[in-house]
Amino acid sequence: MIYADYNGSAPICTDVKDYLIERLKKDGPYSNPNAIHYLGNKVLMGMENARSICAKVLGADYNQIIFNSGATEGISTAFHSCLDGALEKGKKAIIISGIEHSAVVNTGKYWVEKGFEMKILPTLSNGVVDVNALESWLADFGDKLALVAIMAANNETGVIQPYEKISELCNKHNVPYLCDTTQFVGKTLFNFKKSGADFALLSGHKIGALTGTGILMAKNPCSVKPLIIGGGQEKGHRGGTQNYIGNETLAVALKNFEKNLDKIEALNSKRIEFEAEIKRRFPDVVILGEDAPRLASSTYIAYPGIHGQAVQIELESQDIFVTTSSACSDNEPVTSKVLKAMGVTDSVGRGVVRISLGLCSPLEYYDQILEALSKSYEKLAKIKSY
Ligand SMILES: Cc1ncc(COP(=O)(O)O)c(C=O)c1O
Repeated sequence: MIYADYNGSAPICTDVKDYLIERLKKDGPYSNPNAIHYLGNKVLMGMENARSICAKVLGADYNQIIFNSGATEGISTAFHSCLDGALEKGKKAIIISGIEHSAVVNTGKYWVEKGFEMKILPTLSNGVVDVNALESWLADFGDKLALVAIMAANNETGVIQPYEKISELCNKHNVPYLCDTTQFVGKTLFNFKKSGADFALLSGHKIGALTGTGILMAKNPCSVKPLIIGGGQEKGHRGGTQNYIGNETLAVALKNFEKNLDKIEALNSKRIEFEAEIKRRFPDVVILGEDAPRLASSTYIAYPGIHGQAVQIELESQDIFVTTSSACSDNEPVTSKVLKAMGVTDSVGRGVVRISLGLCSPLEYYDQILEALSKSYEKLAKIKSY
């Protein structure tokens, strides 16, 4: 079996599995980390140690790490922190890009209903957002902006965005910048402080930790307004007893990522080789975002005329699991909004299949996917579906 849907969700990594087995075998400590007795203190120390490790790997300060349930919560919290009360201060607009995840798009729409204007930054045909347009929008109405939310890497195409440049521009105009790093962290090196962003985030299930865990990174933690009020946990930034075992797994997964950083280059080269070979065999094939910088482990590929879902089913019959677009829009038999933003035609857009591996996936997987994909294309090309 080859699992090639890491951008959807990564399997729990071996180090995390081993950690959990050991921890459960030891039978504890289990307690409320906020309890004042010995066991509570022990759990708290374990969780705070995890916070320090996460901070170190992410290039953040210890107090900039806020544990939560995942990226969607981090996004909602960042929006709430920047937009609540902003209209009264004359901040009436937000900017997102046309390739954002629905967690950003729909949160933006929620705030539009509250009276904000949402401007959609255009995207170039290679999948990179138009930074020149952002620069002129910031110059034109920066003082009216409550937030800019633009991702670091796209979940469908894997295209890496110029987030450091975007930070620089937002900082210059004093506009808070939320960088959606959900697909970036754990796949390539990310340093929160160097990024210059006001907010960044991660989801545990994308990096091999337990699902339902996550981190919001905040440049100025005092600016974080809790979405969940509760009993003052996470220094009042996120109420509710912490998922301490889950949070410990975030540290283990991030340490595992750091340990395997040297695998990125080989993975990248192998992906490029794979893409070149499939294009040599099938010259009509299109690699989305081909000319842009991309994550080492992501390929978004289309054979115009062959439906992506048909390819996915063929691959699945060969025990290879890919997806046709981001998991959330799997039921849409249409070109995804990300591809539409890039100006991709329906004939390409309907054919896409996303192949996403992890840092520790064996490189031979690409050879096996190449053969299985070739077999599928050969078969399906005889009965082109549209
Ligand atoms: C870029 C991006 N942002 C946000 C999310 C939301 O993450 P979660 O569902 O883990 O909260 C995802 C999930 O696929 C994503 O890819």
